[in-house]
Amino acid sequence: MRHLLSTADLDRAAAIGILDTAAQMAATQSREIKKLPTLRGRTVVNLFFEDSTRTRISFETAAKRLSADVINFSAKGSSVSKGESLKDTALTLQAMGADAVVIRHQASGAPHTLAHSGWVDGAVINAGDGTHQHPTQALLDAYTIRRHLVGLRGGADPAGRDLAGLKVAIVGDVLHSRVARSNVLLLRTLGADVTLVAPPTLVPVGVETWPCRVSYHLDEVLREQQPDAIMMLRVQRERMTAGGAGGAFFPNPLEYTRGYGLDARRLRLLPDHAIVMHPGPMNRGLEISADAADSARAVIVEQVANGVAVRMAVLYLLLAGDQRPAEAAQSGAR
Ligand code: CP
Repeated sequence: MRHLLSTADLDRAAAIGILDTAAQMAATQSREIKKLPTLRGRTVVNLFFEDSTRTRISFETAAKRLSADVINFSAKGSSVSKGESLKDTALTLQAMGADAVVIRHQASGAPHTLAHSGWVDGAVINAGDGTHQHPTQALLDAYTIRRHLVGLRGGADPAGRDLAGLKVAIVGDVLHSRVARSNVLLLRTLGADVTLVAPPTLVPVGVETWPCRVSYHLDEVLREQQPDAIMMLRVQRERMTAGGAGGAFFPNPLEYTRGYGLDARRLRLLPDHAIVMHPGPMNRGLEISADAADSARAVIVEQVANGVAVRMAVLYLLLAGDQRPAEAAQSGAR
C-alpha cells in the first residue's frame, strides 16, 4: 500500500490487515508507556483545508505515539487565504521533508490529485475529501463493529476477523456523506449486509449501483431487519444551500427528526445487542436525540478512541510496513 485514498482500494485481506494491526496498536496503548519508536525521524504533515476536530487530533496523536515529527497545517491563517494553490502549498511542504501527507479538502478528488501529481514524494492519506471518501473513518467504524459484534452471526471467517453476516443500517444525509460512501464499500468488502436509510431528497443519484439496499422508511428497517449496528449520519447543513452539492435544501428539522431521527422509541426497536454509532460531530436533537447519543449502547466516544489505533496502524503500514508490528511495539517502547 503506497497511499490510502479510498476504501475502494482495499480488498478483504488489506482491510483485515489494517484492522489486525490496529488491534496490536491498541494493545500497546493500554500499557503505562504508550510511545513507540517506530517512526522516529519521519515527518507527518496534517494538511487540513476543511475544519476537523476528531480526525486532525487523532492523526496527530497517532503520529506522535509512533514518535514521528508532526507539522500541522490549517488553511485558515495560512497563505491559502492569499490565493496560494494546492500545488504550491504541497511543494512548500515537500521542501520541509514530508514522509506522509494527511489531507482533508473540500474538493472531492484532491487527495488523488496530490498522490498522483508528483508534488509530494511521501504517502498520501485521505482524511476526507468533499462528499467522496473518508477511508480512515470507515476503518475505525469497522474496527468498532468488530470489537463489539464479531462472531454474533457466525460469519464465514472462523477467526472472526471480518463482519460476515452482520447487518448495518446507515441513516440520514447520505447525499453529502463521504462517511456513508466509504462505509458502504468497506463493510461490503468485509461481508456485512448494509442498508442505507434516507429521505428521497438526500439519496444520491446512482445509488442503485452501490453494493447495498436503500430504504426510505427507518421504522420499517428497524422492525424488519433488526440491524446489529445503526450508524447515524450528520445532516450537513453547510453543504445544503440552493447551489450546493446536489442542490439540496435543508430539510424541515421537525419532519426530518420525525422520519429519520434516532430517539428512545426507536432505540427500543433495535435488538438488545445492537450498537449506536455516529462519526461526529453530532447535531443533537436533529439526527440523534440526547437519549440515544448518551445511551449505554452508544459507542460514539469509543469510535474516537479507536480512531487513534486505526490511524497508528495506517501510518505504520504506509511508513514502516517492512517491520512487523509486534517487533515495532517491543523494540523499545518508551
Ligand atoms: N468524523 C470526523 O471526520 O470528524 P471531524 O470532522 O471532527 O474530523
